[in-house]
Amino acid sequence: MKILVTAGPTREPIDPVRYLSNRSSGKMGYALAGAAAHEGHQILLISGPTSLDIPAGVDFLPVETGLEMFEAVQRHIGRMDAAIFAAAVADYRPAHPATGKIKKSSAPLSLDLVPNPDILGSCRSVFGFTGTLVGFAAETSDVLDHARGKLIAKGCDLLVANDVSRPGIGFESDRNEVHLVFPDRIETLPEDDKTSLALEIIHQVEKLHAH
Ligand code: CTP
Repeated sequence: MKILVTAGPTREPIDPVRYLSNRSSGKMGYALAGAAAHEGHQILLISGPTSLDIPAGVDFLPVETGLEMFEAVQRHIGRMDAAIFAAAVADYRPAHPATGKIKKSSAPLSLDLVPNPDILGSCRSVFGFTGTLVGFAAETSDVLDHARGKLIAKGCDLLVANDVSRPGIGFESDRNEVHLVFPDRIETLPEDDKTSLALEIIHQVEKLHAH
């Protein structure tokens, strides 16, 4: 299969030296890309900035901002059999990034933010993607309810949900516990390292694609 994977955080510039971002390490997305390549699939990994090594055997497309990730996905998704959205795209970006470094003053400073496009949410409606679509949901409460809402709203075949409020798993960790939310059922993969979870998720994607 040809599989597109998004991973990592995005950086939304405030001025030439500052940005808005989040705590995503990219580990889950890179583990998925690596596991899928290991299984013999052709992978395009579109990634925001991380400190990780590029997994062996994947095509790599680095991006910085949510808009750049949107454009990269739009350009490549048409030829994919499946797409897995593990990136933590910033929901908002500064409306008018300053061209020069913002100087400090004693006055309070407000930033105007505008919403970034929802890349996963554009796959069916804007990009016309008909392949297997997998989203992620990072939640801090009502994990399964929110995940089911995203599965339906974004037209996914599978939504991988995790509780990012739990210490020791999820963001920045090598371990995670995830719930696989399908349209007709939920399966929980108990806490494990991200490499093992990634392989299990890739097997589920293979099954979905075969249907
Ligand atoms: N996602 C995306 N583009 C965005 C925001 C999110 O592609 N601009 C994708 C993520 O990669 C993930 C899924 O959408 O697969 C859910 O992301 P999440 O941040 O949990 O959900 P949001 O839709 O942003 O909802 P909220 O932040 O309100 O929980």
